[in-house]
Amino acid sequence: MTEAIHRDHWSNRWAFVLATAGSAIGLGNIWKFPYMAGENGGGAFVLVYLGCIALVGLPVMMTEIMLGRRAQRNPVAAMERLAREAGAPRAWKLVGILGVFTGAVILSFYSVVAGWMLDYLIRAVTGRFHGMGPGEAKAAFGSLLASPYELALWHTVFMFLTMGVVAWGVTRGLERANKIMMPALAAILLVLVGYGLARGDMAGAVAFMFYPDFSRLSPQGVLAAMGQAFFTLSLGMGAVMVYGSYLQRHVSIARTSIYVACADTAFALLAGLAVFSIVFAHGMGPAAGPGLVMQTLPIAFGAMAGGAVLGALFFLLVVFAAWTSAISIAEPGVAWMVENLRVARGRACVVFGVVVWLLGIAALLSFNLWQGVSVFGLSIFDALDNLASNILLPLGGLAIVVFGAWVMKQTHAREELDLDEGWFRIWRFAAKYVAPVAIVLIFLNLTGLLPG
Ligand code: PHE
Ligand code: NA
Repeated sequence: MTEAIHRDHWSNRWAFVLATAGSAIGLGNIWKFPYMAGENGGGAFVLVYLGCIALVGLPVMMTEIMLGRRAQRNPVAAMERLAREAGAPRAWKLVGILGVFTGAVILSFYSVVAGWMLDYLIRAVTGRFHGMGPGEAKAAFGSLLASPYELALWHTVFMFLTMGVVAWGVTRGLERANKIMMPALAAILLVLVGYGLARGDMAGAVAFMFYPDFSRLSPQGVLAAMGQAFFTLSLGMGAVMVYGSYLQRHVSIARTSIYVACADTAFALLAGLAVFSIVFAHGMGPAAGPGLVMQTLPIAFGAMAGGAVLGALFFLLVVFAAWTSAISIAEPGVAWMVENLRVARGRACVVFGVVVWLLGIAALLSFNLWQGVSVFGLSIFDALDNLASNILLPLGGLAIVVFGAWVMKQTHAREELDLDEGWFRIWRFAAKYVAPVAIVLIFLNLTGLLPG
Protein backbone atom coordinates (compact mmCIF):
# COMPACT_ATOMS: atom_id res chain seq x y z
CA MET A 1 0.00 0.00 0.00
CA THR A 2 2.87 2.33 0.68
CA GLU A 3 5.01 0.90 -2.15
CA ALA A 4 4.25 3.75 -4.52
CA ILE A 5 5.51 6.55 -2.30
CA HIS A 6 8.69 8.12 -3.50
CA ARG A 7 11.30 8.19 -0.77
CA ASP A 8 14.35 10.38 -0.68
CA HIS A 9 17.72 8.83 0.01
CA TRP A 10 20.91 10.14 1.53
CA SER A 11 23.17 11.58 -1.11
CA ASN A 12 26.08 9.42 -0.04
CA ARG A 13 27.51 7.32 2.73
CA TRP A 14 28.92 10.25 4.66
CA ALA A 15 25.64 12.07 4.58
CA PHE A 16 24.12 9.15 6.49
CA VAL A 17 26.94 8.96 9.00
CA LEU A 18 26.71 12.72 9.55
CA ALA A 19 22.96 12.67 9.94
CA THR A 20 23.12 9.81 12.43
CA ALA A 21 25.86 11.58 14.37
CA GLY A 22 23.76 14.74 14.17
CA SER A 23 20.87 12.86 15.70
CA ALA A 24 23.00 11.35 18.44
CA ILE A 25 25.05 14.38 19.44
CA GLY A 26 22.85 16.92 21.13
CA LEU A 27 21.48 18.01 24.46
CA GLY A 28 21.87 14.44 25.68
CA ASN A 29 25.62 14.97 25.71
CA ILE A 30 25.99 18.60 26.69
CA TRP A 31 23.06 19.04 29.04
CA LYS A 32 21.83 15.67 30.22
CA PHE A 33 24.93 13.56 30.69
CA PRO A 34 26.69 15.92 33.13
CA TYR A 35 23.65 16.45 35.28
CA MET A 36 22.73 12.75 35.34
CA ALA A 37 26.28 11.79 36.26
CA GLY A 38 26.25 14.50 38.92
CA GLU A 39 22.94 13.40 40.40
CA ASN A 40 23.88 9.75 40.48
CA GLY A 41 27.22 9.99 42.21
CA GLY A 42 29.71 10.14 39.32
CA GLY A 43 32.15 7.32 38.56
CA ALA A 44 29.98 4.26 39.09
CA PHE A 45 27.20 5.82 37.01
CA VAL A 46 29.67 6.67 34.25
CA LEU A 47 31.04 3.13 34.26
CA VAL A 48 27.60 1.55 33.95
CA TYR A 49 26.73 4.11 31.28
CA LEU A 50 29.83 3.22 29.24
CA GLY A 51 29.09 -0.48 29.67
CA CYS A 52 25.55 0.09 28.41
CA ILE A 53 26.81 2.03 25.38
CA ALA A 54 29.10 -0.83 24.38
CA LEU A 55 27.07 -3.89 25.32
CA VAL A 56 23.50 -2.68 24.81
CA GLY A 57 23.67 0.51 22.76
CA LEU A 58 25.88 -0.76 19.95
CA PRO A 59 23.94 -3.96 19.23
CA VAL A 60 20.62 -2.10 19.48
CA MET A 61 21.86 0.62 17.17
CA MET A 62 23.04 -1.85 14.54
CA THR A 63 19.77 -3.72 14.75
CA GLU A 64 17.62 -0.61 14.59
CA ILE A 65 19.40 0.77 11.51
CA MET A 66 19.28 -2.64 9.91
CA LEU A 67 15.51 -2.94 10.36
CA GLY A 68 14.98 0.47 8.82
CA ARG A 69 17.18 -0.19 5.84
CA ARG A 70 15.72 -3.62 5.21
CA ALA A 71 12.16 -2.34 5.21
CA GLN A 72 12.72 1.05 3.53
CA ARG A 73 9.69 2.26 5.47
CA ASN A 74 8.86 4.46 8.43
CA PRO A 75 9.15 2.54 11.72
CA VAL A 76 5.45 1.62 11.95
CA ALA A 77 5.28 0.27 8.40
CA ALA A 78 8.77 -1.21 8.73
CA MET A 79 7.88 -3.34 11.72
CA GLU A 80 4.65 -4.42 10.09
CA ARG A 81 6.36 -5.39 6.87
CA LEU A 82 9.27 -7.23 8.47
CA ALA A 83 6.87 -9.07 10.79
CA ARG A 84 4.81 -10.17 7.80
CA GLU A 85 7.93 -11.40 6.02
CA ALA A 86 8.88 -13.39 9.08
CA GLY A 87 5.39 -14.82 9.58
CA ALA A 88 5.14 -13.03 12.93
CA PRO A 89 2.10 -11.16 14.31
CA ARG A 90 1.36 -7.77 12.77
CA ALA A 91 1.18 -6.42 16.30
CA TRP A 92 4.92 -5.79 16.01
CA LYS A 93 3.97 -2.52 14.40
CA LEU A 94 3.06 -1.35 17.89
CA VAL A 95 6.80 -0.92 18.41
CA GLY A 96 6.70 1.75 15.72
CA ILE A 97 3.61 3.40 17.19
CA LEU A 98 5.20 3.41 20.62
CA GLY A 99 8.20 5.12 19.02
CA VAL A 100 6.04 7.88 17.55
CA PHE A 101 4.51 8.48 20.97
CA THR A 102 7.93 8.41 22.65
CA GLY A 103 9.18 10.93 20.13
CA ALA A 104 6.40 13.34 21.03
CA VAL A 105 7.20 12.98 24.73
CA ILE A 106 10.94 13.49 24.23
CA LEU A 107 10.62 16.43 21.88
CA SER A 108 8.36 18.27 24.33
CA PHE A 109 10.96 18.68 27.06
CA TYR A 110 13.88 18.62 24.63
CA SER A 111 12.53 21.73 22.96
CA VAL A 112 12.15 23.48 26.30
CA VAL A 113 15.81 22.82 27.12
CA ALA A 114 16.89 23.87 23.63
CA GLY A 115 15.00 27.07 24.43
CA TRP A 116 17.27 27.63 27.45
CA MET A 117 20.22 27.40 25.08
CA LEU A 118 18.66 30.01 22.78
CA ASP A 119 18.13 32.29 25.74
CA TYR A 120 21.75 31.81 26.81
CA LEU A 121 22.90 32.50 23.27
CA ILE A 122 21.32 35.95 23.54
CA ARG A 123 22.78 36.44 27.00
CA ALA A 124 26.26 35.56 25.76
CA VAL A 125 25.96 37.92 22.80
CA THR A 126 24.91 40.77 25.10
CA GLY A 127 27.89 40.12 27.40
CA ARG A 128 25.86 39.11 30.43
CA PHE A 129 28.27 36.38 31.60
CA HIS A 130 31.12 38.78 32.21
CA GLY A 131 32.65 38.28 35.65
CA MET A 132 29.85 35.95 36.72
CA GLY A 133 30.28 33.97 39.94
CA PRO A 134 28.48 30.80 41.01
CA GLY A 135 25.80 32.66 42.96
CA GLU A 136 24.96 34.93 40.05
CA ALA A 137 24.93 32.05 37.58
CA LYS A 138 22.47 30.21 39.75
CA ALA A 139 20.25 33.24 40.20
CA ALA A 140 20.30 34.00 36.47
CA PHE A 141 19.10 30.52 35.62
CA GLY A 142 16.51 30.69 38.37
CA SER A 143 15.07 33.87 36.90
CA LEU A 144 14.75 32.21 33.50
CA LEU A 145 12.88 29.25 35.00
CA ALA A 146 10.61 31.63 36.87
CA SER A 147 9.45 33.27 33.67
CA PRO A 148 6.84 31.20 31.82
CA TYR A 149 6.71 33.72 28.98
CA GLU A 150 10.40 33.68 28.29
CA LEU A 151 10.49 29.87 28.42
CA ALA A 152 7.44 29.62 26.18
CA LEU A 153 8.86 32.10 23.69
CA TRP A 154 12.08 30.13 23.19
CA HIS A 155 10.30 26.78 23.21
CA THR A 156 8.04 28.11 20.46
CA VAL A 157 10.95 29.42 18.42
CA PHE A 158 12.72 26.08 18.66
CA MET A 159 9.59 24.13 17.66
CA PHE A 160 9.25 26.34 14.58
CA LEU A 161 12.88 25.76 13.66
CA THR A 162 12.49 22.01 14.06
CA MET A 163 9.16 21.43 12.37
CA GLY A 164 10.11 23.86 9.61
CA VAL A 165 13.07 21.74 8.61
CA VAL A 166 11.14 18.50 8.97
CA ALA A 167 8.45 19.91 6.69
CA TRP A 168 11.12 20.47 4.06
CA GLY A 169 12.16 16.82 3.90
CA VAL A 170 15.04 14.95 5.31
CA THR A 171 17.94 15.10 2.91
CA ARG A 172 17.91 18.82 2.28
CA GLY A 173 19.46 21.54 4.35
CA LEU A 174 21.40 20.61 7.38
CA GLU A 175 23.53 17.63 6.48
CA ARG A 176 26.27 19.76 4.99
CA ALA A 177 26.36 22.28 7.84
CA ASN A 178 26.87 19.38 10.23
CA LYS A 179 30.31 18.81 8.81
CA ILE A 180 31.48 22.18 10.15
CA MET A 181 29.31 22.59 13.22
CA MET A 182 30.14 19.31 14.95
CA PRO A 183 33.93 19.73 14.88
CA ALA A 184 33.50 23.36 15.93
CA LEU A 185 31.46 22.29 18.95
CA ALA A 186 34.10 19.70 19.81
CA ALA A 187 36.77 22.40 19.56
CA ILE A 188 34.97 24.69 22.02
CA LEU A 189 34.47 21.79 24.41
CA LEU A 190 38.22 21.24 24.23
CA VAL A 191 38.78 24.91 25.04
CA LEU A 192 36.47 24.53 28.05
CA VAL A 193 38.38 21.46 29.17
CA GLY A 194 41.58 23.48 28.74
CA TYR A 195 40.07 26.20 30.91
CA GLY A 196 39.18 23.52 33.45
CA LEU A 197 42.79 22.33 33.44
CA ALA A 198 44.19 25.83 33.87
CA ARG A 199 41.70 27.43 36.20
CA GLY A 200 39.27 24.75 37.38
CA ASP A 201 39.60 21.61 39.44
CA MET A 202 40.27 19.07 36.72
CA ALA A 203 41.74 16.57 39.16
CA GLY A 204 38.51 16.72 41.13
CA ALA A 205 36.47 16.34 37.95
CA VAL A 206 38.46 13.31 36.80
CA ALA A 207 38.23 11.67 40.21
CA PHE A 208 34.49 12.29 40.37
CA MET A 209 33.79 10.96 36.90
CA PHE A 210 36.18 8.04 36.74
CA TYR A 211 36.58 6.74 40.25
CA PRO A 212 33.68 4.31 40.64
CA ASP A 213 32.14 4.26 44.09
CA PHE A 214 29.29 1.79 43.82
CA SER A 215 27.90 2.67 47.21
CA ARG A 216 26.69 5.90 45.60
CA LEU A 217 24.79 4.19 42.79
CA SER A 218 21.20 3.11 43.50
CA PRO A 219 19.17 0.69 41.36
CA GLN A 220 17.42 3.80 40.01
CA GLY A 221 20.85 5.16 39.12
CA VAL A 222 21.67 2.00 37.17
CA LEU A 223 18.41 2.33 35.26
CA ALA A 224 19.15 6.00 34.64
CA ALA A 225 22.57 5.06 33.23
CA MET A 226 20.97 2.65 30.80
CA GLY A 227 18.23 5.14 29.93
CA GLN A 228 20.90 7.75 29.27
CA ALA A 229 22.73 5.34 26.94
CA PHE A 230 19.54 4.92 24.91
CA PHE A 231 18.74 8.61 24.96
CA THR A 232 22.17 9.77 23.95
CA LEU A 233 22.46 7.32 21.04
CA SER A 234 18.90 8.12 19.86
CA LEU A 235 17.85 4.50 20.29
CA GLY A 236 14.59 2.73 20.98
CA MET A 237 12.05 5.03 19.30
CA GLY A 238 12.70 4.63 15.60
CA ALA A 239 14.89 7.69 15.04
CA VAL A 240 17.85 5.79 13.65
CA MET A 241 15.44 3.28 12.11
CA VAL A 242 13.83 5.97 10.00
CA TYR A 243 17.26 7.35 9.05
CA GLY A 244 18.31 3.82 8.10
CA SER A 245 15.23 3.58 5.90
CA TYR A 246 16.58 6.45 3.79
CA LEU A 247 19.80 4.52 3.33
CA GLN A 248 20.78 2.60 0.24
CA ARG A 249 22.89 -0.52 0.39
CA HIS A 250 26.69 -0.56 0.55
CA VAL A 251 27.09 1.40 3.73
CA SER A 252 28.52 -0.55 6.62
CA ILE A 253 25.97 -0.41 9.42
CA ALA A 254 28.47 -1.74 11.95
CA ARG A 255 31.11 0.83 11.11
CA THR A 256 28.61 3.68 11.17
CA SER A 257 27.32 2.58 14.56
CA ILE A 258 30.80 2.40 16.02
CA TYR A 259 31.79 5.84 14.68
CA VAL A 260 28.65 7.41 16.04
CA ALA A 261 28.87 5.74 19.44
CA CYS A 262 32.51 6.80 19.85
CA ALA A 263 31.91 10.39 18.78
CA ASP A 264 28.86 10.66 21.00
CA THR A 265 30.74 9.29 23.98
CA ALA A 266 33.60 11.71 23.41
CA PHE A 267 31.21 14.68 23.42
CA ALA A 268 29.56 13.54 26.64
CA LEU A 269 32.83 12.92 28.49
CA LEU A 270 34.30 16.26 27.39
CA ALA A 271 31.17 18.09 28.50
CA GLY A 272 31.28 16.28 31.83
CA LEU A 273 34.93 17.16 32.44
CA ALA A 274 34.32 20.82 31.55
CA VAL A 275 31.31 21.08 33.84
CA PHE A 276 32.72 19.24 36.85
CA SER A 277 36.05 21.06 36.81
CA ILE A 278 34.02 24.23 37.34
CA VAL A 279 31.70 22.62 39.89
CA PHE A 280 34.53 21.53 42.16
CA ALA A 281 36.64 24.67 41.69
CA HIS A 282 33.79 26.76 43.07
CA GLY A 283 32.59 24.40 45.77
CA MET A 284 29.28 23.88 43.96
CA GLY A 285 27.24 20.68 44.28
CA PRO A 286 27.40 18.14 41.43
CA ALA A 287 23.76 17.17 42.05
CA ALA A 288 22.21 20.49 41.01
CA GLY A 289 19.88 18.74 38.56
CA PRO A 290 18.81 19.85 35.08
CA GLY A 291 20.24 23.35 35.58
CA LEU A 292 23.81 22.14 36.18
CA VAL A 293 25.25 23.11 32.80
CA MET A 294 23.46 26.46 32.76
CA GLN A 295 24.85 27.29 36.17
CA THR A 296 28.46 26.34 35.47
CA LEU A 297 29.60 27.04 31.91
CA PRO A 298 28.66 30.76 32.01
CA ILE A 299 31.19 31.14 34.84
CA ALA A 300 33.95 29.88 32.55
CA PHE A 301 32.86 32.04 29.61
CA GLY A 302 32.56 35.02 31.92
CA ALA A 303 36.12 34.60 33.16
CA MET A 304 38.12 33.78 30.04
CA ALA A 305 39.53 36.18 27.47
CA GLY A 306 37.24 36.30 24.45
CA GLY A 307 34.63 34.50 26.53
CA ALA A 308 31.72 36.55 25.20
CA VAL A 309 32.38 35.50 21.62
CA LEU A 310 33.26 31.96 22.54
CA GLY A 311 30.20 31.64 24.77
CA ALA A 312 27.92 32.94 22.05
CA LEU A 313 29.46 30.53 19.56
CA PHE A 314 29.13 27.67 22.03
CA PHE A 315 25.43 28.19 22.67
CA LEU A 316 24.84 28.69 18.97
CA LEU A 317 26.49 25.35 18.22
CA VAL A 318 24.59 23.63 21.03
CA VAL A 319 21.34 24.95 19.58
CA PHE A 320 22.42 23.60 16.23
CA ALA A 321 23.27 20.21 17.71
CA ALA A 322 19.91 20.15 19.47
CA TRP A 323 18.20 21.11 16.23
CA THR A 324 19.64 18.20 14.24
CA SER A 325 18.65 15.85 17.07
CA ALA A 326 15.15 17.28 17.34
CA ILE A 327 14.59 16.74 13.64
CA SER A 328 15.34 13.06 14.07
CA ILE A 329 12.99 12.85 17.05
CA ALA A 330 10.10 14.18 14.96
CA GLU A 331 10.88 12.28 11.76
CA PRO A 332 9.39 8.85 12.66
CA GLY A 333 6.00 10.36 13.54
CA VAL A 334 5.92 12.62 10.51
CA ALA A 335 7.07 9.89 8.10
CA TRP A 336 4.40 7.60 9.51
CA MET A 337 1.63 10.17 8.99
CA VAL A 338 2.85 10.92 5.46
CA GLU A 339 3.35 7.34 4.31
CA ASN A 340 0.63 5.45 6.14
CA LEU A 341 -2.04 8.01 6.83
CA ARG A 342 -1.46 9.88 3.57
CA VAL A 343 -1.30 13.26 5.25
CA ALA A 344 0.61 15.96 3.38
CA ARG A 345 4.05 16.46 4.92
CA GLY A 346 3.42 20.06 5.89
CA ARG A 347 0.16 19.20 7.58
CA ALA A 348 1.72 16.23 9.39
CA CYS A 349 4.34 18.61 10.76
CA VAL A 350 1.68 21.00 12.01
CA VAL A 351 -0.21 18.21 13.78
CA PHE A 352 2.86 16.69 15.40
CA GLY A 353 4.28 20.12 16.20
CA VAL A 354 1.13 21.35 17.94
CA VAL A 355 0.82 18.22 20.10
CA VAL A 356 4.47 18.44 21.13
CA TRP A 357 4.26 22.19 21.69
CA LEU A 358 1.36 21.77 24.11
CA LEU A 359 3.17 19.04 26.04
CA GLY A 360 6.21 21.30 26.15
CA ILE A 361 4.13 24.13 27.61
CA ALA A 362 3.05 21.80 30.40
CA ALA A 363 6.70 20.86 30.93
CA LEU A 364 7.88 24.47 31.19
CA LEU A 365 5.01 25.52 33.44
CA SER A 366 6.18 22.90 35.91
CA PHE A 367 9.14 25.21 36.67
CA ASN A 368 6.90 28.05 37.74
CA LEU A 369 3.09 28.26 37.71
CA TRP A 370 2.57 24.51 38.05
CA GLN A 371 5.47 23.94 40.38
CA GLY A 372 3.24 22.14 42.86
CA VAL A 373 1.88 19.63 40.37
CA SER A 374 3.42 16.22 40.86
CA VAL A 375 3.17 13.10 38.73
CA PHE A 376 4.35 10.01 40.62
CA GLY A 377 6.26 12.35 42.89
CA LEU A 378 8.00 14.14 40.01
CA SER A 379 7.47 17.49 38.33
CA ILE A 380 5.84 17.31 34.90
CA PHE A 381 9.20 18.03 33.27
CA ASP A 382 10.99 15.28 35.18
CA ALA A 383 8.10 12.88 34.69
CA LEU A 384 8.19 13.29 30.90
CA ASP A 385 11.97 12.87 30.86
CA ASN A 386 11.92 9.84 33.15
CA LEU A 387 9.05 8.16 31.34
CA ALA A 388 10.78 8.51 27.99
CA SER A 389 14.39 7.80 28.90
CA ASN A 390 14.04 5.20 31.60
CA ILE A 391 10.98 3.30 30.45
CA LEU A 392 9.90 3.90 26.86
CA LEU A 393 13.31 3.93 25.16
CA PRO A 394 14.65 0.79 26.88
CA LEU A 395 11.36 -1.03 26.18
CA GLY A 396 11.47 0.03 22.54
CA GLY A 397 15.10 -1.01 22.33
CA LEU A 398 14.31 -4.38 23.87
CA ALA A 399 11.56 -5.02 21.33
CA ILE A 400 13.81 -3.94 18.45
CA VAL A 401 16.72 -6.12 19.42
CA VAL A 402 14.51 -9.14 20.17
CA PHE A 403 12.81 -8.70 16.82
CA GLY A 404 16.09 -8.38 14.95
CA ALA A 405 17.77 -11.38 16.51
CA TRP A 406 14.90 -13.74 17.32
CA VAL A 407 12.05 -12.97 14.92
CA MET A 408 13.41 -11.50 11.69
CA LYS A 409 14.65 -13.83 9.00
CA GLN A 410 18.33 -14.19 9.74
CA THR A 411 19.22 -14.46 6.07
CA HIS A 412 17.95 -10.89 5.80
CA ALA A 413 19.88 -9.76 8.86
CA ARG A 414 22.99 -11.35 7.43
CA GLU A 415 22.49 -9.63 4.10
CA GLU A 416 21.90 -6.21 5.64
CA LEU A 417 24.74 -6.28 8.13
CA ASP A 418 27.08 -7.74 5.54
CA LEU A 419 29.72 -8.76 8.07
CA ASP A 420 32.33 -11.49 8.15
CA GLU A 421 30.94 -14.62 9.72
CA GLY A 422 32.81 -14.01 12.97
CA TRP A 423 31.53 -10.48 13.41
CA PHE A 424 28.04 -11.51 12.44
CA ARG A 425 28.10 -14.12 15.21
CA ILE A 426 29.25 -11.51 17.68
CA TRP A 427 26.42 -9.18 16.69
CA ARG A 428 23.95 -12.02 16.92
CA PHE A 429 25.11 -13.10 20.35
CA ALA A 430 25.00 -9.53 21.62
CA ALA A 431 21.58 -8.85 20.11
CA LYS A 432 20.09 -12.20 21.04
CA TYR A 433 21.36 -12.52 24.60
CA VAL A 434 23.58 -9.78 25.99
CA ALA A 435 21.43 -6.72 25.27
CA PRO A 436 18.01 -8.20 26.12
CA VAL A 437 19.26 -9.86 29.29
CA ALA A 438 20.96 -6.65 30.42
CA ILE A 439 17.82 -4.60 29.83
CA VAL A 440 15.59 -7.08 31.64
CA LEU A 441 18.01 -7.43 34.56
CA ILE A 442 18.26 -3.69 35.02
CA PHE A 443 14.47 -3.42 35.06
CA LEU A 444 14.20 -6.33 37.53
CA ASN A 445 16.94 -4.88 39.70
CA LEU A 446 14.64 -1.95 40.33
CA THR A 447 11.94 -4.11 41.81
CA GLY A 448 14.31 -5.22 44.54
CA LEU A 449 13.36 -8.83 43.83
CA LEU A 450 16.71 -9.71 42.36
CA PRO A 451 18.97 -11.58 44.79
CA GLY A 452 22.29 -10.04 45.74
N1 PHE B 1 20.46 11.56 21.06
C1 PHE B 1 19.92 12.89 21.21
C2 PHE B 1 20.81 13.68 22.17
O1 PHE B 1 21.68 13.13 22.78
C3 PHE B 1 18.49 12.89 21.67
C4 PHE B 1 17.60 11.92 20.96
C5 PHE B 1 16.89 10.97 21.66
C6 PHE B 1 17.47 11.97 19.57
C7 PHE B 1 16.06 10.06 21.02
C8 PHE B 1 16.65 11.05 18.90
C9 PHE B 1 15.96 10.10 19.62
O2 PHE B 1 20.63 14.86 22.33
NA1 NA C 1 23.75 12.06 22.38
